[in-house]
Amino acid sequence: MHVLQNRVVGECRPVVETQLGTPKLGTPKLVNMVCPCKSLVLVTGWSALTYLAYRLIRALYNILYPFVIATPKDLKELAGATWAVVTGSTDGIGKSYATELAKKGFNVVLISRDQSKLENVKAEIQEKATNVEIKTIQFDFTNPNLADYEERIVRKLNELDVGIL
Ligand SMILES: NC(=O)c1ccc[n+]([C@@H]2O[C@H](COP(=O)([O-])OP(=O)(O)OC[C@H]3O[C@@H](n4cnc5c(N)ncnc54)[C@H](OP(=O)(O)O)[C@@H]3O)[C@@H](O)[C@H]2O)c1
Repeated sequence: MHVLQNRVVGECRPVVETQLGTPKLGTPKLVNMVCPCKSLVLVTGWSALTYLAYRLIRALYNILYPFVIATPKDLKELAGATWAVVTGSTDGIGKSYATELAKKGFNVVLISRDQSKLENVKAEIQEKATNVEIKTIQFDFTNPNLADYEERIVRKLNELDVGIL
C-alpha cells in the first residue's frame, strides 16, 4: 500500500510517495511540488501587468481626450463679452493667442511697445479673421507712470465690452 507524505523544505512542500510502515524499502518518489512562493510570484506578476495596463490606458485616454472625447467649449459664451485684450501680442505666445481668439470671433485689442509691429500683426490677423474688429494700443509696461497707464490703457479698455484679458 502507498501513501502520500508531505515534507516541508523551505517554503516549497514536495509531495512524495512511500511504502506504508517500511520507509526503508524503496526510494520515496516525488509526485508533486506544492510551492507557495510560486503563487506569490504569479500574483506579483499579474498585479504588475494589471498596473502597467492601467497606466497605458490612462495615458492613451489623456492623449485622446482633448481631440476625440471632449466637446469644445464656446469661449464667447464663457467670456460673456465680445472683446479680448492681448498684451505682448506682436510676437510668440501673445501673437498666437490674439490670432486664435480672432479666428474664434473675438474682437481683439493688441498691446505692445512698437506701433509698426502692431500694425503688421493687425493686418496679418485681419487677413485670417475678416469678420472681427482689431484695435492696437502702443504701450511700454515698464513705464512706471500710473497716469499714463490709466490714460492709454484703462480709459480705452473701459470703452469696450472686455471678456478676456
Ligand atoms: N511658462 C512658460 O512655459 C513660458 C514659455 C514661454 C514663454 N514664457 C513667457 O511668456 C512671455 C511671452 O513669451 P514669448 O515667447 O511669446 O515672448 P516674445 O516672443 O519675446 O514676445 C514678447 C511680446 O511682448 C512684447 N513686449 C515685450 N516687452 C514689452 C513691454 N515692456 N511692454 C509691452 N510689451 C512688451 C513684445 O512686443 P514689442 O517688442 O513690440 O513690445 C512681444 O510682442 C515671456 O514673458 C516668456 O518669458 C513662458
